[in-house]
Amino acid sequence: MTAVTVRVPAKVNLQLAVGPAREDGYHDLVNVFHAVSLFDEVTVTAAGPRAVTGFARLTVEGEPYAYTAEVPLDDTNLAARAARLLARETGSGGPIDIHLRKRIPVAGGMAGGSADAAGALVACNTFWRAGLSPDDLLALAAELGSDVAFPLVGRTAVGTGRGELLTPVSSVGRYHWVFALSGKGLSTGRVFAEYDRLRPDAPEPREDTALMSALASGDARALGAALSNDLEAAALSLRPDLDATLQAGRAAGALGVIVSGSGPTCAFLAADEAAAGRVAAALRESGHCERTVTAYGDVEGAVVVPQG
Ligand code: C5P
Repeated sequence: MTAVTVRVPAKVNLQLAVGPAREDGYHDLVNVFHAVSLFDEVTVTAAGPRAVTGFARLTVEGEPYAYTAEVPLDDTNLAARAARLLARETGSGGPIDIHLRKRIPVAGGMAGGSADAAGALVACNTFWRAGLSPDDLLALAAELGSDVAFPLVGRTAVGTGRGELLTPVSSVGRYHWVFALSGKGLSTGRVFAEYDRLRPDAPEPREDTALMSALASGDARALGAALSNDLEAAALSLRPDLDATLQAGRAAGALGVIVSGSGPTCAFLAADEAAAGRVAAALRESGHCERTVTAYGDVEGAVVVPQG
């Protein structure tokens, strides 16, 4: 085996209920993850010649809208940390090159960095024949970050705890989404800190039963009405310009309108693929959105791409 490529999906949060800050600084969540058809690809190869010694050398390419210039290429990158963690835990592997092909916007609230880390875990496990089970990989993912486990499983799942304890949700049908992308990312930590400032009395997070029945029946209109994100007010407080983007999507007839995760990406649920195209065009014409991308959900989690 000379290379292993793994494809990993982005996520949008259908519900993000955030509790009060815990002792460890994290927040208990009810986080309904939904995997959408915007995929990054993570390719692992044996290390080529390099000027500086190091365990994982990173390179990146991607769509212009993914703002790949913002991706850290040093060993702070979550994909590099994932490779090191897996090597340390299994005693396998040696220096590697990791190439990221990005379609998930960077620092956009769609868990692109977490998806790349999940992809690196699966790629290294395969490349080094390390033999970790899916449950072993989920445990390593949870060590790396709150959102890293979900892209391993994909589809639709509720995350509790920090968001890393996953339970699959039965979801029928296909949902069509438009994402309004923003050139300037938002730091997840900053958005949570702003949430603490705005909501010092946050209640314990609870699963929304209306959302669960919408997913069980495949009712896009009911799903649109049930979307909710407790971090939205905090994201809007830091980025007031996003309000006009949300309004423009609402005016364009989206069934549901929400900031994705900690933002700044805004997500719009449309009735079908044609309606998604119309919402995307209206958003771009509104002048309140730099770029749009359309995708559908839910989709499967990390998969090894056959070498062709
Ligand atoms: O777990 P992860 O490293 O992705 O989290 C990034 C930041 O988001 C954390 O440092 C923390 O500030 C915040 N966070 C949180 N509660 C969670 C998940 C993330 O406060 N459940």
